[in-house]
Amino acid sequence: MYCNCEVKCYQAAMTSADLIHPPCAGLRIGDLAPDFEARSTMGPQRLSSYRGRWLVLFSHPADFTPVCTTEFVALAREASAFGARDCALMALSVDSLFAHFAWIRMIRDRFGVEVRFPIIEDPTLVIGRAFGMVGREDADSATVRTTFFIDPKGVVRAMTCYPANLGRSVPEMLRILDGLQAVDAAGALAPANWQPGEPLLEAPRHDLEAVFDAKEATAWFLRYTGDTP
Ligand code: BEZ
Repeated sequence: MYCNCEVKCYQAAMTSADLIHPPCAGLRIGDLAPDFEARSTMGPQRLSSYRGRWLVLFSHPADFTPVCTTEFVALAREASAFGARDCALMALSVDSLFAHFAWIRMIRDRFGVEVRFPIIEDPTLVIGRAFGMVGREDADSATVRTTFFIDPKGVVRAMTCYPANLGRSVPEMLRILDGLQAVDAAGALAPANWQPGEPLLEAPRHDLEAVFDAKEATAWFLRYTGDTP
């Protein structure tokens, strides 16, 4: 099996601990995000103080690494797009606060963009483990690329998990946020490849009359909002 040794390869080095504590299995959709207080590049942060607005909390494996640097440049450039959706950004890694400071200073000097969302230091991985951001418990001191979309009530509504060697897509992060906000506002469902402005789907009804009354064979379970039943 292909394994670039510069990059953690979970498939190539599975241990029994992976089966008990695989990365990205700490929380489930619908869970209340565990509260924490921690130091960050923007001062002390408490997760519960973000109640009332959306929060994208994401982990990265390490400061001063190539993929992570491109992610932070991309996210810092799009920070206002998250703000326009009433969504805060918060990053986290095992690196120290001073490493975070040095890294974002380098990012500013090299790429001309200031990372002004908080980057949490999690040296003991107590937060990373609570969120399932960490790989093998005994051998791994880095977080994987998890992203948690947390709603204004503090509930985890979606999450993604990428390996160290694949950077996240900021447009997809924004699309997930848009999709969650749109389905909440309309009480509807977002279809495959949905983009903002496109129609949503009606939630299917659960009564037999709706099944037999529907004009088309699929209309009782697959219908866009605004279409006649
Ligand atoms: C990165 O480029 O971000 C990266 C690469 C390998 C391991 C961890 C991070």
